[in-house]
Amino acid sequence: MRNYGGYMEKGQSTTFYDLPLWLRIFRHSRGYKGAIGFAVLLSLGVTFAALSLPYLLKTGIDTYITAVDMPPDQRFSGLLRIGFFTGLLIICGFVLTFVQVVLLEWVGQSIMHRLRQQLFDHILALDLSFLNKQPTGRLVTRLTNDIQNMYEMFTSVLVTLFNDLLRLLGILVVLFIMNAKLAAVMSVFLPLALVLIVVFASLAREKFRAIRSQLSRINSFIQESVSGISVIQLFNEQHRWFHRFDELSREYLHRTLRQIRLFAAFMPLTELMSWVAVALILLYGGYQVIDKTLTIGELIAFIAYMRLFFQPLRDLAQKYSIVQSALASAERIFAMLDTRREIVDPGVPQTISQVTGEIVFRSVSFGYDTDVPVIANLDLTIEPGQTVAIVGPTGSGKTTLISLLLRFYEPQAGTIAIDGRDIRRLKLADLRTMVGVILQDVLILDDTLLANIVMNSGCSRQRVADVLDQAGMKPFVENLENGLDTLIGDGGRELSSGEKQLLSFARALCRNADILVFDEATASIDSETESILEQAVAALSGRTSIIIAHRLSTIRRADRIVVMDSGRIVEQGNHQDLIALNGYYAELVRLDALKRKTLQTRETPRRSISPATP
Ligand SMILES: Nc1ncnc2c1ncn2[C@@H]1O[C@H](COP(=O)(O)OP(=O)(O)O)[C@@H](O)[C@H]1O
Ligand SMILES: [Mg+2]
Repeated sequence: MRNYGGYMEKGQSTTFYDLPLWLRIFRHSRGYKGAIGFAVLLSLGVTFAALSLPYLLKTGIDTYITAVDMPPDQRFSGLLRIGFFTGLLIICGFVLTFVQVVLLEWVGQSIMHRLRQQLFDHILALDLSFLNKQPTGRLVTRLTNDIQNMYEMFTSVLVTLFNDLLRLLGILVVLFIMNAKLAAVMSVFLPLALVLIVVFASLAREKFRAIRSQLSRINSFIQESVSGISVIQLFNEQHRWFHRFDELSREYLHRTLRQIRLFAAFMPLTELMSWVAVALILLYGGYQVIDKTLTIGELIAFIAYMRLFFQPLRDLAQKYSIVQSALASAERIFAMLDTRREIVDPGVPQTISQVTGEIVFRSVSFGYDTDVPVIANLDLTIEPGQTVAIVGPTGSGKTTLISLLLRFYEPQAGTIAIDGRDIRRLKLADLRTMVGVILQDVLILDDTLLANIVMNSGCSRQRVADVLDQAGMKPFVENLENGLDTLIGDGGRELSSGEKQLLSFARALCRNADILVFDEATASIDSETESILEQAVAALSGRTSIIIAHRLSTIRRADRIVVMDSGRIVEQGNHQDLIALNGYYAELVRLDALKRKTLQTRETPRRSISPATP
């Protein structure tokens, strides 16, 4: 069984003090300097508005409410003025905050949009040897969760953090100006609150980390279950799968609850502290009021400021954990971006003006893992224009050979050459245009058949029609209701696997591929499509073709048949020679014939008395 814990993320050693990481993050916001600067400026306004309110409160109380010597209507009109200013400031604060939030969200979203594009673009070009080792879930996480984490830091933290710090500083300054002694007493709470925050933040970090790793486990479990759903249903394993998911999900619940308990303890704790501070002000400030060194207005303003003071402190702790997870995400995103490709275009690429299609594998050895050889010291020469069939049991390395020819992987030893040119000296795009591959899995774009055939080859409609005509594939197009303009893919027509292969073949032809490769293209198609395909191949004689086939009947006409086993060529020659040799190939043919016979017997309902064993 798979180990879903194996999908633990690395790179969680990130610290808050990783300066190069911070610099790199900020480099991504370079294009938005103006907007960020403006948001910071707005911060000043927002802070000013927030800090003015308690001051207005004080003025209202001291200048008008408690001023018993002043005539009442003067006190009333004064209060009215204060009320008006208060309202005005609240509205200003609201508008400024609104503009700031929208601006920052825009900046954050834009930066993430760009980063997402950059990352996806990078992933698309990475080596298969690297990508194959990455669980799909991990790549998805990079592009979704990790980006989202970074985004949260950009918007909800960076500038609001600036807002908060500005506010804390502002409050301290105002308090000291209003009453230095009382302010000094109050500042005792600052280190206390900081200690509380640091302790809480480090506890929270553990909890968040545990939650995140459990979440990635769940994600990869879901992903693997969905991709293997047919097998699960086939074997009636839903129950067991559900049970495993239940365990994973329950653990997630527990971990989340642990984090919630921590927050539930921390929040009232800061609330408690803020009330203790209020009590202290009431006690010491009240004493000063009686002593006539503090006015009632100042006392009330002090209390209001204290409440304002604790609010950002409380947020600070939460923001600290957001920053932590954003840093870890940033590190993982950057690590992905820093993954270099090993298979790249040569510095000075060579070109082949007229490809004849000679292919030479010389002493090629390769393994997906270096210590597990899949191709072992293989030599193979394919003459220009030859049709070569490769047969052999599943896992013998046939597809791998093609992947090496297309330079999806680099052999660990030996060379591969086309027309005498080492493929490493050719531009990748040239090489992959030269070799047209017709696969079983065909990538379909949600577009018309024409667009699907042309892709980026720049082929004209006329040329597509000619090519199809020439290869005898017209019936394929005529079968579709709108011909070349039929929509296929999601929301369009579903193509049968045979039709997909014809499409794939047409693609290769449009590119004028000099070498054609069929990798088990005929394995799952009906005999009608197969005969179209066979005719098409025949019509194109003259091109080097490599046919990997399950059905041995389709390869009899090949110029040469190469039999592979465990990454080696065990026999080669034409059909008659190999039958005469009475070795490996002859055995395969016998087995194939036997299999067909059994199938036919089973397909005939009247005589379905054959044993149930396949
Ligand atoms: N992407 C891959 N990563 C690791 N091992 C692979 C990969 N693709 C194929 N293999 C292994 O390499 C061997 C040859 O596979 P393949 O070339 O696909 O065989 P064939 O096409 O002849 O059936 C098999 O043992 C297979 O498990
Ligand atoms: Mg294969």
